[in-house]
Amino acid sequence: MASAPLISPSILSADFARLGEEVRAIDEAGADWIHVDVMDGHFVPNLTIGPGVIRAIRSWSDKPFDVHLMISPVDASLAAYAEAGADMITAHPEAGPHFHRTVQAIRALGKKAGAALNPSTPETVLDYVLDALDLVLVMSVNPGFGGQSFIDSQLRKIEALRKTVDARGLTTLIEVDGGVNPDTARACVNAGAHALVAGSAAFKGGPERYRANIAALRGQ
Ligand code: DX5
Ligand code: ZN
Repeated sequence: MASAPLISPSILSADFARLGEEVRAIDEAGADWIHVDVMDGHFVPNLTIGPGVIRAIRSWSDKPFDVHLMISPVDASLAAYAEAGADMITAHPEAGPHFHRTVQAIRALGKKAGAALNPSTPETVLDYVLDALDLVLVMSVNPGFGGQSFIDSQLRKIEALRKTVDARGLTTLIEVDGGVNPDTARACVNAGAHALVAGSAAFKGGPERYRANIAALRGQ
C-alpha cells in the first residue's frame, strides 16, 4: 500500500481578509507545507499575491512555503520570492525561454526547485532537467482558479513520472495540484504522487474543519 501523502493546502481558498490567522490555523491542523499560488493576470487569467504578502504571512507558520509561480517572465522575480520566504519555488517551463536556467537560478538562491506541468504539457519536457529538480508539480486543472474539476488524464502522467523518477534513482517528489479531494487524492497516491495540493477541499467548512479535511485527504 502507498504511504500517506504530504498535504500542501493552497491558501488561494483561505479567507484573504484574515490570511495570517488562516495560515496559522491550517498549519496547526496538520498541513505539511503551505502552498502559495502566485498569479500575474498574464501567464494565467487571474491575479493573486506577490512577495509583499508572502513576507507578511511568513511569520505565521514554520512549515515550508511551497510557492507556485504562475508568472511570465519568471526569472527576474525569483530572488524576490526567495527573499520573501519561499522554501520551494516552482515555475512553469512555458514561463520563459530557458527553463534549465530558471532551475539553476532557483537552486543558486538556495531554494528547492520545482517544475509545474500544465495538463497539455507532456512529462518528457523534463527529461534533461529532472535530475536538477526537487519537485514536479503535475497540474490536474488548467492553472488560474481554485475549485475546478480534476482532469483524469493526468493520472497517466503521474504514473509515468513516478516510474522515471524511481528508475533513475532520483529523490524528486511528485506533487499534484488541482481538483484534489479525498477521492481524487486516493487515485493520485495510487498513481505514485508523494504530495498533494488542496485548496477548496482543505479550507472548506472553516477552521474547525481543517484538521478533518486534511486527514481525509491523507486517507485517514
Ligand atoms: C490553480 C492553483 C491551485 C488551486 C487548487 O491554478 O495552482 O493550487 O488553488 O485549488 P483546488 O484544490 O480548489 O482545485
Ligand atoms: Zn498551485
